[in-house]
Amino acid sequence: MDGYAQKVVVMAISIKELHSSLGAEIGGVDLSIPLAPDVKQEIDTAWQRYGVLVFRNQEVTDAEHVKFSRCFGELEVLPETERTDSSLPEIFILSNVDSAGEILPEENEAVVFNSLTWAWHTDSCYRKVPSKGAILHGIEVVKGGGGETRFANLRRALEEMPVVLRDRVEGLKGQHSWAWMRSHRNLPEMNPAEAAKVPPVQHKLIRKHLDGSESLYISPIYMQRIVGWSEEATRDLVDELTGWATQERYVYEHSWEEHDVLMWDNTWTMHMVMPYDSSSQRRVMHRTAIAGIDQVI
Ligand code: OGA
Ligand code: MN
Repeated sequence: MDGYAQKVVVMAISIKELHSSLGAEIGGVDLSIPLAPDVKQEIDTAWQRYGVLVFRNQEVTDAEHVKFSRCFGELEVLPETERTDSSLPEIFILSNVDSAGEILPEENEAVVFNSLTWAWHTDSCYRKVPSKGAILHGIEVVKGGGGETRFANLRRALEEMPVVLRDRVEGLKGQHSWAWMRSHRNLPEMNPAEAAKVPPVQHKLIRKHLDGSESLYISPIYMQRIVGWSEEATRDLVDELTGWATQERYVYEHSWEEHDVLMWDNTWTMHMVMPYDSSSQRRVMHRTAIAGIDQVI
């Protein structure tokens, strides 16, 4: 009986590798309904193994999106209360379309904010405990070039890093700052109460995971400086590391279809959106972020 039950579960979900470094497409799951414990476990295992999971044709509501996300941990709410413009505080909207359905002008703050994702980063690295991962629902996606999301495997990038480069990174800490990221992108200054909630934080450039593995931990748009270094020397090293880690062999590029749901691990991958013409192309994405677990290693 047990064997049979096991077989049914195994058959229900399919896993197709998308790239030799990371990414897998998961089939046979409906994210709008509660997950059976075994299915949840399989998704969790695949998430850890592949770093990025793709679920196609998932027309979930925000409430269903949040429910699915909660299966994998506590959810974050954004530091700036005005960004939680959905009815649910856990849903972060990345969109260049206003509530009346019109494309927003380039200078609109939300549009400027979206363009931050057009450079390599990991989410919420500006928190003391960065998020474990994110789940993104593509509601309106760019058709015909641009708007793809690239993911890089920072575990493999570190494993295969030339020793001379690795030696330079060993022992370094990066200072990540939300306020600095905003200021160098000309976003309006934060009010002191909001800024106080997100003071700069430091994270080692080589991150040790609970399973003993290691990965590079960089987030170029938030890395104000390597602790003890000038901003110029910091930029040189961060650019060099980014170049190394984003070689084709470490990168999966996702071309979006409407109602794709992507789930990524923020602890050993980073990502960026390929630029697109946001004055003519609509892009509406809803995201949740799974909070990290404090692990001092
Ligand atoms: C994000 C992000 C990627 C995308 O939500 O953190 O970087 O494809 N999104 O919109
Ligand atoms: Mn992101």
